[in-house]
Amino acid sequence: MRVLTGIQASGKLHIGNYFGAMKPMIELQEEHELFTFIANYHSLTSSKDAQTLKQYTLDAAVDYLSVGIDPEKTTFWVQSHVPQVLELYWILSKFTPMGLLERAHSYKDKVAKGIPASHALFSYPVLMAADILLFDTQKVPVGKDQIQHVEMTRDIATKFNNEYGEIFVLPEHMVQEEVATIPGIDGQKMSKSYGNAIDLFMDEKPLQKRCNKIISSSTSLGEPLEWKGCHIYNLAALFLDDAGKKALQERYKSGKEGYGHFKKYLKELIWEELEEAREKRAYYLDHMDEVQDILAVGAKKAGTIAEAKIAQVKEAIGLL
Ligand code: ADP
Ligand code: TRP
Repeated sequence: MRVLTGIQASGKLHIGNYFGAMKPMIELQEEHELFTFIANYHSLTSSKDAQTLKQYTLDAAVDYLSVGIDPEKTTFWVQSHVPQVLELYWILSKFTPMGLLERAHSYKDKVAKGIPASHALFSYPVLMAADILLFDTQKVPVGKDQIQHVEMTRDIATKFNNEYGEIFVLPEHMVQEEVATIPGIDGQKMSKSYGNAIDLFMDEKPLQKRCNKIISSSTSLGEPLEWKGCHIYNLAALFLDDAGKKALQERYKSGKEGYGHFKKYLKELIWEELEEAREKRAYYLDHMDEVQDILAVGAKKAGTIAEAKIAQVKEAIGLL
């Protein structure tokens, strides 16, 4: 089965990205044909300067390789290295009713957050549809916030197929329910734009400091604590199996420990989970030419498929 997903290159990755997108994606490469790219055309909608966009793109490549993208198994590239996606984006625009885009939550949310309302931001879902449809994608692993975009992709593909024949595969989204929305240190959805994220690769001390900032209620030591709804517990639970969760619940109930202990415990869980990734990351940061080579091989593989698909689409609609 062909599985495809895009990574926004717009800042440091956090625990929400890790559990909501990276980890599930990396598990997929064992059984499926995985296509993953860094969505730098998308990131342009919120980019302020050239150097930052470049740096974020390379950082994302290093981070994803570090947490386990295996370039032997997965086609991994930078979106702008396969420019056929922009040809398809224009073609698909013709099959995208204005009303469909006007209903997009993510556009409204971004404008509400102060990102300037541009045509690129408005038509972002059409580019995402092009990403997906260009590669005959069957499944799209995404966070909950992106489900609507995959549904819009299906609408656009259906409209095209109805008018010009069965050219596009209708994709389905894939969301891991139990990690659907990872909370940040304030309990809201973790997001780099909300200032509530715990970054994936932090040194040990700043990581502890960040964990200490998680908002908790103020029960005095000696009293049992409520684990249900506790942001520290909810984050720690991501790293634990059922037995681990049960044991942590017992610690909350015992009243012998305070939130400070659980914040320390959470830091340890994060630190241990990422040990191997930290080592790989140090290696890649020291060998950026290898990272560039991996991306070039990925772009070549993706480009071959994109070229064939765009030829098929042009033929179908009468573009010479
Ligand atoms: P951010 O909200 O920090 O800007 P992105 O929009 O760049 O994050 O998200 C990248 C990927 O990570 C997407 O697949 C998104 O759905 C997923 N993701 C981001 N934040 C979370 C979260 N808090 N919980 C679950 N998944 C998330
Ligand atoms: N819009 C996605 C996000 O913000 C990133 C993305 C771009 C994507 N193109 C895609 C995800 C295609 C899945 C498939 O996270």
